[in-house]
Amino acid sequence: MSAWWQKAVVYQIYPRSFQDSNGDGIGDIPGIISRLDYLQFLGITAIWLSPVYQSPNDDNGYDISDYEDIMSEFGSMDDMKKLIHEADKREIKLVMDLVVNHTSDEHAWFVEAKKGKDNPYRDYYVWRDPINGGVPNELHSTFSGSAWTLDEESGQYYLHLFSKKQPDLNWENEKVRQEVYDMMNFWLDMGIGGFRMDVIDLIGKLPDQGITGNGPLLHTYLQEMNQATFGSLDVMTVGETWGATPEIAKLYSDPERKELSMVFQFEHIGLDQQEGKDKWDLKTLSIGQLKHVLSKWQTSLGHQGWNSLFWNNHDLPRIVSRWGNDQEYRVESAKMFAILLHMMKGTPYIYQGEEIGMTNCPISSIEEVDDIESINMYNERLAQGYTKESILSSINAKGRDNARTPMQWDESESAGFTKGTPWLHVNPNYPMINAKENLADTNSIFYTYKKLIELRKEHAIVVWGEYELIEGTAEEVFAYYRVLNGEKWLIVANFSPSEKTFTLSGAIEELLIHNYQDTLPKIGELLLKPYEAFVAKIFRGRKE
Ligand code: NOJ
Repeated sequence: MSAWWQKAVVYQIYPRSFQDSNGDGIGDIPGIISRLDYLQFLGITAIWLSPVYQSPNDDNGYDISDYEDIMSEFGSMDDMKKLIHEADKREIKLVMDLVVNHTSDEHAWFVEAKKGKDNPYRDYYVWRDPINGGVPNELHSTFSGSAWTLDEESGQYYLHLFSKKQPDLNWENEKVRQEVYDMMNFWLDMGIGGFRMDVIDLIGKLPDQGITGNGPLLHTYLQEMNQATFGSLDVMTVGETWGATPEIAKLYSDPERKELSMVFQFEHIGLDQQEGKDKWDLKTLSIGQLKHVLSKWQTSLGHQGWNSLFWNNHDLPRIVSRWGNDQEYRVESAKMFAILLHMMKGTPYIYQGEEIGMTNCPISSIEEVDDIESINMYNERLAQGYTKESILSSINAKGRDNARTPMQWDESESAGFTKGTPWLHVNPNYPMINAKENLADTNSIFYTYKKLIELRKEHAIVVWGEYELIEGTAEEVFAYYRVLNGEKWLIVANFSPSEKTFTLSGAIEELLIHNYQDTLPKIGELLLKPYEAFVAKIFRGRKE
């Protein structure tokens, strides 16, 4: 199999924060269109667009009130059609976010459903009677508190695995599934390039048994969806699956099973989280573990799956602040992350601003926070007796607003994102870190990404080569080979702010990319500088 999405590099746009065109402080679709030339110059071949549908924005568009209409703040359906067309002219596919585990409570289906137990839409959602006068069970919402909210009028509880304004759809209801498939076909008919499927592992849930992820009917539904919608089309589908192991990932992405193209797995993302606790409870990353986890994913999918490669998205802190160094070695470490990930086997995803080395944006009080997840956690933990300082430090490390501050385009006021007041504060480092400054400097992080994308387009080994971890290096040195038809590439990354040694076992034939400007010895022992990373072609036929 060779599909376009196996060769693609995807760029994620969080529309609220990408580019405002009308001065209301909120990014919009005309703003995105105005930046397509920038994306084309970077070289990406697909865009994953976070939700642009009608939404009351309790969770910034992940609470949809109309799947077939565009959020007024973002523009109109005509703008959307123009975006698809303009992207297509630049050979960029547009992958839409599909959020169908839940809707907004303002969606017409839920408005109807709330009208009473006999309403034809009642069964579109998950309702349960109280047990012993309280919640039906202990299911917890990802956004804190119980996953059940009482509807006073009917005396029943409805399920919401996220905020109470995001009621879960009842996938056991065939009508719900048909509505979703019709809506997907509406978008596919418009010529989109596929779907990123929000928390898709939850649609097979059995709430009464406390089962949320990977429920027994999950794959039956996905096979049905595939048949009813995109199965015969040349599109890409990527499922967000938080708990996936390689074995689980194969169930979604084995081509023979006719489900999805690939999934986002999060095993590496959880490595700085304390065992059995949640994302706010931090521990130091072990680079040994990171190597182990990423290598496992590289080698275990075989022909039954395809990897998604990412460090960032709109839910995660900026990688350069998280596991790199966003001060002295910001540029070096940002390039190191890029080189390490983009030379792996799979489809790389770049989250807006990653390509210019944007960093986390620390806050000092909860008033500065917009994200519902952080705000709810703050209130919950405060009530549990945590100190404000400890909660704010968790938010600074992991809060989702870190990734959501406006894109930094230039040094003008509000970073060129808007002429009005931005909906969320701009990171104060924008005069130094912005796209204009990156574009003007051929040694910038931007040009590292551009070069990595070019290498992927020009060399089959980057797409198809086998991956081999190099064992026995210093713990902080992450090194691997890619191998295809006798060709061998070496990728070396020093994951630390101190110098490390690495011994070459073959000789370097050609240095393909390097995040320092100095030359490298072609053979023997290398002394790697802080966060130094490079890709080199190794002489063929040489014994190791
Ligand atoms: C995952 C999305 O990426 C996140 O932003 C959202 O809050 C939840 N799903 C709920 O839709």
